[in-house]
Amino acid sequence: MRMVTNDDTSADVDQATRVLVAENEVNRDLILEGMSEAETRRVRDELIPVYDEIGFHARQAWKSAPAVYDGHSLKILGHPVMEDWEDPYMAALAAVAASNGGQVLEVGFGLGISAGYIAQSPGITRHIIIEANADVAERARQFRDGIATHPTEVLEGLWEEVIDEVPDGSLDGILFDAYPLDQSEVMNQAHFAATAYRKLRPGGRFTYFSDEISGFRAEHFDALVAAGFAPGNIDFEIVNVTPPEDCQYWKSDTIIAPILTK
Ligand SMILES: C[S@@+](CC[C@H](N)C(=O)[O-])C[C@H]1O[C@@H](n2cnc3c(N)ncnc32)[C@H](O)[C@@H]1O
Repeated sequence: MRMVTNDDTSADVDQATRVLVAENEVNRDLILEGMSEAETRRVRDELIPVYDEIGFHARQAWKSAPAVYDGHSLKILGHPVMEDWEDPYMAALAAVAASNGGQVLEVGFGLGISAGYIAQSPGITRHIIIEANADVAERARQFRDGIATHPTEVLEGLWEEVIDEVPDGSLDGILFDAYPLDQSEVMNQAHFAATAYRKLRPGGRFTYFSDEISGFRAEHFDALVAAGFAPGNIDFEIVNVTPPEDCQYWKSDTIIAPILTK
C-alpha cells in the first residue's frame, strides 16, 4: 500500500504499482490495517440518504435519459454521476488498469477523464469502452474518433448486456467505474469482481471506483476473494483528493485505488 499524491506523475504511479505487486505477499490482516469501520459507516450514512432522496429509475431508463454536462460534471436523472475533482483518482485508476499495456476494458465513460489517461498510456493495443447511456456513448465515440491514440472501440449498452462480446481470459487490464443504478450497487463496487476475474488473463489487473477511504472493509475484501482473487494479489493505493464541500457523493480527502491481479 502506498500514498499517491497529486504531484505524482503517471510513470511514478506505474513504477510504484509494479514494485508494490512484486512485494505483494500481503495477508488479510495487513491489508485491512488501514481501514476503519467507523469511517465506512460514516460514508454509508452520508451516501444512502443522497441516493434515497434522488431515487432510482428502471435500469433501461438510464440508457435514453439526457446526459447533462456543465463543463465540470455530469448528471443523469438528477444523479451526480461524475465530477472533475476526481481527476487525480482517475489518473491512479488508469495507471493500474494500463500497467500491463495490451487490451484494456473500461466500463463507464462519464467525463472521459480516465479514458484520456488510458489514451496516454504506452503499449495499449486495444481500448474497449462500455457505456450504457446513449448521449455519453456518443461522446465516447467522439473520443474514439478524435482523441484516442490507440485502437478504441465503444460497446453501447449496460455492461450486463454487452460483456459477452469480450472473450474470457482476454484482458490485460480493467477499469470499472459504472455509477450505481440501483440501491444494491451503492457501496458495492465489488459486484463486478467475478466478471472481471473471468475476463482477465492470468497476471491481468483490475481496479475500480472503491467507495473506501483508507483500506478495504472486511466484507469488501472477502467479496474480492470470493470472486476469485487470491488474498496475496489484493492491494491498494491511497489517493489524495479534494472534493468541493458541496459534492454529494464524496466528503473525504482520500479514496483508495484497488490493485487486484489475477
Ligand atoms: C462515474 S462515470 C465514469 C467516469 C469516468 N471514469 C471518467 O473518468 O469520467 C459512470 C459512467 O458509467 C455509466 N454506467 C452506469 N452504469 C452502467 C452499466 N451498468 N453499464 C455501462 N455503463 C454504465 C454511466 O452512464 C456513466 O457514464
